[in-house]
Amino acid sequence: MTVKMEDIVSLCKRRGFVWPGSDVYGGMAGTWDFGPLGVALKKRIMDAWWQYWVEERDDIYGVDAAILMNPRTWSASGHTATFADPLVECGNCHGRFRADKIAEGVSESVTTDEFRALNVPCPTCGKTDWGEIRQFNMMFRTHVGPVDDDSSIAYLRPETAQGIFTNYKNVVDSLYPDLPFGLAQQGKAFRNEISPRDFILRDRECSQMEIEYFVAPEKWEEEFEKLLKEQHAFLKDVMCLDMERVHGREVEEGDRAHYSKRTVDIEFDYPNGREELMGLAYRTDFDLMNIQRESGKNMEYIVKGGGARFVPHVLEPSIGVERLFLAVLTSAYAEDEINGEKRTVLRLPEQLAPYRFCVSPLLKNKPELVAKAQEVYALLRQKYGNVTWDDSGNIGKRYRKQDEIGTPKCVVIDFDTLEDGTVTVRDRDTTEQVRVKIEEL
Ligand code: GAP
Repeated sequence: MTVKMEDIVSLCKRRGFVWPGSDVYGGMAGTWDFGPLGVALKKRIMDAWWQYWVEERDDIYGVDAAILMNPRTWSASGHTATFADPLVECGNCHGRFRADKIAEGVSESVTTDEFRALNVPCPTCGKTDWGEIRQFNMMFRTHVGPVDDDSSIAYLRPETAQGIFTNYKNVVDSLYPDLPFGLAQQGKAFRNEISPRDFILRDRECSQMEIEYFVAPEKWEEEFEKLLKEQHAFLKDVMCLDMERVHGREVEEGDRAHYSKRTVDIEFDYPNGREELMGLAYRTDFDLMNIQRESGKNMEYIVKGGGARFVPHVLEPSIGVERLFLAVLTSAYAEDEINGEKRTVLRLPEQLAPYRFCVSPLLKNKPELVAKAQEVYALLRQKYGNVTWDDSGNIGKRYRKQDEIGTPKCVVIDFDTLEDGTVTVRDRDTTEQVRVKIEEL
């Protein structure tokens, strides 16, 4: 079905999934806060990723590096020199924009003359009086310690990846895993985006889940294909995305990041159009060689049993949590009609839904029903953890609310429960109701 961004944004706000950051003070562009249901969904997405890539595999290990890193990290990685977007300013209204985002079919390396020749109207005032394009570095700068001078400059990390590369040697020295092996990390990344936009798609503060997969240089193509297939399997089987919205795109040389020899972007048809959901990049030995040069430490891997020595090459699957979160919501969002009444339903997979069950007494003012319902609630909470209680409004309203937040099953305790120990279990997607014995729940 066609899903509109405003419907998702409105649902997120209404039900407590996502709000603008610092909302009470009028917001702060490019930042978002996750409410109780949003944080539950986000956490389940992140946990499912961790379980799939780290806990269920023997070849990928986790790390959790500091966000603040020695600034030499960013000169070695090339971010200080090249992590920039083309910024252009309107000579009339002085609005500032990303040149490649306001002109159709233009790459990040567009020159001022090329851009001006396109006569793109300013999105704010409609004039075409453009200044020079300049490269705007997107790293957030700060000072570490009490002195604000050049010696105390540090950056908020723009990618989690470097915290992995800088620990590669620690992992080899302490664990000595066989090649190929991967290191995974989840955490915040910060980018001073020129124009944050499209709800949570382009943020100034986002969360990434990245794997650096270290391989023997001659094996990169074979491992690249394997990882690409596995990424698709994860998106389909674990995230349950609508795969008709998922598309792989080979990124052309001019559009690839400075470190990449091959990149396949996995794009998703979001409500506002197709956008990158994640990337799989072949980073060669670019990062480890740079660290070796900058630190003077040897980054070679010695194959066990006195075998070959070389600096491994790296494959990097990288995904943004907010983009995955929005892809999950877009895939799950639906509107249908039940007995002539319209409803909104989030068909979230059971393993991602904020709540797995909602437990209710049919009537709130009957103490014997409430007491029995509390018993069932305690039982299910003990068994599954993520169970909610709802005794507000009438039962129809409760179902509508639980449908909207994606709760797969509602369990209702009524007078028959007191007689025969069965409850009504109502299914979110089919709305079918069945009677089930409490001990069989
Ligand atoms: N370490 C590689 C790297 O950072 P990237 O393509 O710049 O590569 C990886 O980012 C992923 O992080 C993207 O595919 C996207 O999902 C997410 N991402 C990047 N910038 C983002 C932003 N400003 N807001 C939200 N997510 C972002």
